[in-house]
Amino acid sequence: MARLTINGQSHSVDVDPDTPLLWVIRENVGLTGTKYGCGIAQCGACTVHVDGEAVRSCSLPVSAAEGQQITTIEGLASGATLHQVQKGWVDHDVPQCGYCQAGMIMAVAALLKDKPKPTDADINDVITNICRCGTFQQVRAAIHAAANA
Ligand code: FES
Ligand code: FES
Repeated sequence: MARLTINGQSHSVDVDPDTPLLWVIRENVGLTGTKYGCGIAQCGACTVHVDGEAVRSCSLPVSAAEGQQITTIEGLASGATLHQVQKGWVDHDVPQCGYCQAGMIMAVAALLKDKPKPTDADINDVITNICRCGTFQQVRAAIHAAANA
């Protein structure tokens, strides 16, 4: 049994403690905005926040997230008000197929919390998420727009 707080709601799930957090979020809790890409912490599609830090949830055992505040893409906006990163994404038409984008947005939201005005070098260092559609130029533009919003 694991007790989790996801997007401010408590969940008790009957899973092995070694189960990756990503599976629990998707399969047990039913929040499918967070995606599975590689399963080995390389692509970033599964990025969520754990106590405000960007974490690749495919590679974090659920037991390591107990007692912490987990935020998924479904919980990033404040009610009907989009997060500044989501607004930047809409304004710059960033997504193509969209598969990587929830993880990308969560990674960027954590970056802007740490560095409200990131340089291109900061972005290169931190945003290592992979987009097979090649949206990297739009991602960069939307990050700068969100930082200046
Ligand atoms: S699915 Fe987690 S990093 Fe790729
Ligand atoms: S928008 Fe398609 S993988 Fe990134």
